[in-house]
Amino acid sequence: PLLAMEQEDGIRQELGSLHGIPLFKSFIEGWPQVKAFQARPDDLLISTYPKSGTTWLSEIMDMIYHDGDAEKCRRDAIYNRVPFLEMKVPKAPSGVEQLENTPSPRLVKTHLPVQLLPTSFWEKECKIIYMARNPKDVVISYYYFHHMAKIHPDPGTKAEFLENFMAGKVAYGSWYDHVRGWWEKKQEKMLYLFYEYMKKDPRREVQKILHFLGKELAEETVERILHHTSFQEMKKNPAANYETMLPTMMDHSVSPFLRKGISGDWKNHFTVAQNERFDQHYQEHMAGSDLHFQME
Ligand code: A3P
Repeated sequence: PLLAMEQEDGIRQELGSLHGIPLFKSFIEGWPQVKAFQARPDDLLISTYPKSGTTWLSEIMDMIYHDGDAEKCRRDAIYNRVPFLEMKVPKAPSGVEQLENTPSPRLVKTHLPVQLLPTSFWEKECKIIYMARNPKDVVISYYYFHHMAKIHPDPGTKAEFLENFMAGKVAYGSWYDHVRGWWEKKQEKMLYLFYEYMKKDPRREVQKILHFLGKELAEETVERILHHTSFQEMKKNPAANYETMLPTMMDHSVSPFLRKGISGDWKNHFTVAQNERFDQHYQEHMAGSDLHFQME
């Protein structure tokens, strides 16, 4: 059993530091290529802190790009349709390599904090959509994701993980710095969305995206997009639910990638004391910002 455990956890990585941001060592090795990445003016960047609805937004964007044709959006797995810019693991094409082989217009996924975004995205004035999610749901989602996605370090207990998250000692660092950093960079070419609003009124949020893209779609097309990108549909769609990923990378039997897909699940996990401590910490770290979150 020990050997099996070692093998199973063989790909778990300790985090290194990329300009002060904790990140997987294999990603850091690929950093020179990411830094030098040549964005194209018609690239659209999907940027998020992990577990904030990246895959959901990616599926919505691919559906919009294909005028609501669900079959076309089954052509490949979401991690190939929307390549992950800074991804680099052994024995697989890196995100940069994937993107170089992707025809325009490209959808690009990143979790990089704003200060690390390759400069060509700013130079080429690419459109950017950022999606943020309340930190209590993010930390719970991230905790389960650490168990199933084997690249992550062992998360420890929930209480330990909560401490590490609050201290920014997890991959991609401080949630506070991430959401605030991108919020402060907000400008005409950037749309800042929230998971909680997407959940409450997906139609309105999709309309916001269409407006941002300067695109109009028929009502029935929007309807198809909403149906195809609902949690239930995505959960059973192999092109969207990550089940095609190697089981050594992701183990859906531990926790499925599309786990719950709701706002406020943290209430089932935080103790009263943890919640009080978290609220206090949140107040301190969001002080002076006009960025506000719905916690459910
Ligand atoms: P939970 O773990 O809370 O269920 P990311 O894609 O950034 O890794 O985010 C994953 C989170 O988004 C997971 O949250 C997942 O269930 C949720 N999610 C994915 N698709 C969704 C959808 N169509 N509707 C609502 N939530 C979705």
